[in-house]
Amino acid sequence: MVIRPASESVAKTGAASMRQRRDPNTLANYDQWTTTHTTTDFTIDFDAKRLKGTVHLTLENLAKDSRQIILDTSVRANDETAEYQLAASRIEPYGTPLTISLPAKTDPTASHVTLSIDVATTKDCTALQWLTPAQTSNKKHPYIFSQCQAIHARSLFPCQDTPDVKSTFTFNIRSPLPVLASGLPTGPKDFQPSKDGKPGTLLYTFHQEIPMPSYLFALASGDIASASIGPRSTVWTGPEELTASQWEFEKDTEAYIQAAEKVVYPYAWTTYNVLVLPPSFPYGGMENPVYTFATPTVVSGDRQNVDVIAHELSHSWSGNLVSNASWEHFWLNEGWTEYLERRIIAAVHGSDQYRDFSAIIGWKALEDSIAQFGEDHNFTKLIPDLKGKDPDDAFSSVPYEKGFVFLYHFEKLLGIEKWDKFIPHYFTTFKQKSVDSYEFKATLLDFFANDADAAKKLQNVDWDTWFYAPGFPPKPDFDTTLADQCYALADKWQALAENRKESDFKPSAKDIESWTANQSVVFLERLQSLPDHPITPELINLMGTTYGYESSKNVELVSRFYTLGLMSRAESVYKPTAELLGEVGRMKFVRPLYRQLIMRDRKLAGRTFEENRDFYHPICRGMVEKLFEKHG
Ligand code: BES
Ligand code: ZN
Repeated sequence: MVIRPASESVAKTGAASMRQRRDPNTLANYDQWTTTHTTTDFTIDFDAKRLKGTVHLTLENLAKDSRQIILDTSVRANDETAEYQLAASRIEPYGTPLTISLPAKTDPTASHVTLSIDVATTKDCTALQWLTPAQTSNKKHPYIFSQCQAIHARSLFPCQDTPDVKSTFTFNIRSPLPVLASGLPTGPKDFQPSKDGKPGTLLYTFHQEIPMPSYLFALASGDIASASIGPRSTVWTGPEELTASQWEFEKDTEAYIQAAEKVVYPYAWTTYNVLVLPPSFPYGGMENPVYTFATPTVVSGDRQNVDVIAHELSHSWSGNLVSNASWEHFWLNEGWTEYLERRIIAAVHGSDQYRDFSAIIGWKALEDSIAQFGEDHNFTKLIPDLKGKDPDDAFSSVPYEKGFVFLYHFEKLLGIEKWDKFIPHYFTTFKQKSVDSYEFKATLLDFFANDADAAKKLQNVDWDTWFYAPGFPPKPDFDTTLADQCYALADKWQALAENRKESDFKPSAKDIESWTANQSVVFLERLQSLPDHPITPELINLMGTTYGYESSKNVELVSRFYTLGLMSRAESVYKPTAELLGEVGRMKFVRPLYRQLIMRDRKLAGRTFEENRDFYHPICRGMVEKLFEKHG
């Protein structure tokens, strides 16, 4: 570890002042020191499955009387020296604080210091997944990708791992395969030829000049190629999948960017690109700046899942420019992002029907989450208490959908014209900053303080109930035009299942001929919600063949069909479910399918997990292990 006064060039002066520690999920003393620039010099060693190198953190001295810098880490180590100390034991679930004592000769009033810390990851690094060539689609090369949200950056390198601290970044990453990182590429350089039979390497460099929190640090490296999907956008994926991915996104990406720019203000990150990852990527998408990381299940060949791109793109404003100050205020990231995503959907379709249809799907996800936790649970609050908790455990649709409904409520309460003036104001006020719910409230009230009518309406908002009451918010009056057809068809199937006399319904492919895949999703979810699961295994088989669900390549749809089949004890879907669980590691699908499969055929579920344990991302693997524990 090396400590030195920061050079003038990196130590940009800012008004140094003390601030509050409002994030309970960090052990860093970020009220006294704040990271202003991070440089990561890493080498990717695929053979050892190790990321090795040095991280340089430049920190601004806020307190001017603090001799210690405490960083988040997740490492376990034995050697201690006078300059730094790794706590003897972990503080679960936050890891091990690394306390660095400044040498006596450093000036306590210096405005900045730079710490250089040598790091090497171990197999316990929860932020990385290493894939062997056999685990990739063309089976030729290894692959690595990171996923740092919410608090996994600390397992990569010591840092102030809180969304309340933002720093600019320089990425220098050496690898034998192409590299992407969450900054703008500044060009590969410095080729080093092969040695000891290992392939040669290039140094891939990126720079992020917009300050960003640690959770947006990202890298990926593998056999990837790129193609254009718009004037300021490219898609990256395996060479064999490139044309299909290009087709999936080229129609909508630029239109989405322009729609979002109209609602908020111009896109700040120069280019917007998408990296389509291998199927074990545990999320639908991750909004890493410049390069959104996305599951390959969005490439369904029918452009029906591009709403994930509208979502991740929206984070370019909500989350990445304006970040939640802690994971307790996660709704400010995800609720706003759902809101913007649905505004984009409405704009490109030219109708609010589509956004309300998406909101109806969201409301069902909210119902499921609240049912899972229980209506009184802390995690069903808009602002949950996360002291001592792992934000991953609190993850659910609640911040997304309760947050969305809250913002939708303001739109309806104030009227869209007034509300639309507030949106750019909010995103300007907190641009490049972190924000909590109380600042959101104050900014909204302040903005309308001189508008008597709006101010009066806002006076009636019961903030405490919205912020802290567990369970459901009031259900908005959504436009159900697109959903009604789905409900009507579900009613017919229900009547058929219950052998009701009035039913002369003969299912045919025509029933869903004009439907989008998401309308089938709503239809299937409606049937999932019926009490006592009246749909028989025979009807599941009939539905699967008549509507082509059993052979659909759209995982959103097929996973809903299997879930309904499992609920209905249709044994014909058990094996296909197990197969799907070996092909897709996205937690949104993995979790409900295991939950059902464990209940129906525990042996098959157990075998499927053992066979695919190494395929799953560490976060996903842990989540499935918890499911098995819960269901004894
Ligand atoms: N930022 C989230 C993913 C995330 C959240 C990762 C919390 C780790 C911790 C991302 O923007 C997201 O919401 N993804 C969704 C897709 C979206 C269309 C709702 C997902 O993964 O399902
Ligand atoms: Zn999101």
